[in-house]
Amino acid sequence: MNEREIAVSVRGLTKNYGKSQVLKGVDFEIPKGSVFCLLGSNGAGKTTIIHILTTRLKPNAGEARICGYDAVKQPAKARRHFSLTGQYAAVDELLTARENLIMIGRLFHIQNPKQKADELLRRFGLTADAHKAVSAYSGGMRRRLDIAMSLTADPEIIFLDEPTTGLDPQNRLEMWQIVRELTKSGITIFLTTQYLDEAERLADTIAILNDGKIVKQGTPEGLKSLIVGSSLVLYFETAADLAKAKERLDGSSLSADNDALTLSITTDGRMKAVAEIIDRLSDLSVTQMEQKRASIEDVFLQLVTKEANQ
Ligand SMILES: Nc1ncnc2c1ncn2[C@@H]1O[C@H](COP(=O)(O)OP(=O)(O)OP(=O)(O)O)[C@@H](O)[C@H]1O
Ligand SMILES: [Mg+2]
Repeated sequence: MNEREIAVSVRGLTKNYGKSQVLKGVDFEIPKGSVFCLLGSNGAGKTTIIHILTTRLKPNAGEARICGYDAVKQPAKARRHFSLTGQYAAVDELLTARENLIMIGRLFHIQNPKQKADELLRRFGLTADAHKAVSAYSGGMRRRLDIAMSLTADPEIIFLDEPTTGLDPQNRLEMWQIVRELTKSGITIFLTTQYLDEAERLADTIAILNDGKIVKQGTPEGLKSLIVGSSLVLYFETAADLAKAKERLDGSSLSADNDALTLSITTDGRMKAVAEIIDRLSDLSVTQMEQKRASIEDVFLQLVTKEANQ
């Protein structure tokens, strides 16, 4: 890819906190105007990567570039090109949303802070609440205001660190909508999440971070088999029936728990596959059934198993 078309590039990034190595050689590139989603469980190192890219933290080795500028050696230049949401979390609670936006606009010496503030309030559906003190805002409104503030200086790249964690389903959907709208304006989005479905819905590229490395990277389409995979858990009345089910489903990916009398079967998540399984076991005493969507842990497990079998 041409250098000028790359918004973010990371090569051989390592980071230790004391004796523990959190990043063990991370590599990726993000084309301008795309949505990149870094997926990883709690403590995987997502925020650490964001903090290195946004010049808040120095890596032990490797390179992190923002629009061609080295985040370690040219931090001031790098900073002109991105914005990190949450960085204005220290908004003045007593000021209104509009006043906060104007204050940030002045801080950045933009041309017309009031006009920009009104434009952003409109864009994020905050016009009606523009004159309320931020202390009276709900969690969802605060996130919207936070993103609006990040856009004041028209950054090329915006970092959103777990933008939907802690939001209720309604606000979560709203945040997805905001991300989609942001992409229309050509901005590059770097987003982290612990949720597979979120990554699948929003990202052009998904990178899965596990044990300090990117273990898988690709389009949601390319990772689909991992993402839509789920397991069907069946609860049996007797050990004999559990044994019969295991026999009949031989060849599928199974794991049985003989004490709990449960059988977990990996499926592609489609109803057809589930229906087929149920059909084959219809004469057995299944007392309960549940379908579990694939978690990040399942995906890692699948990846690790696949690699071990290669
Ligand atoms: N300042 C620090 N000093 C020591 N250890 C740290 C520090 N910051 C983070 N860590 C550790 O590094 C690991 C990665 O942390 P990081 O915050 O980057 O993970 P994360 O993927 O953002 O997790 P989460 O999903 O919980 O936000 C964790 O084990 C964390 O405890
Ligand atoms: Mg984090």
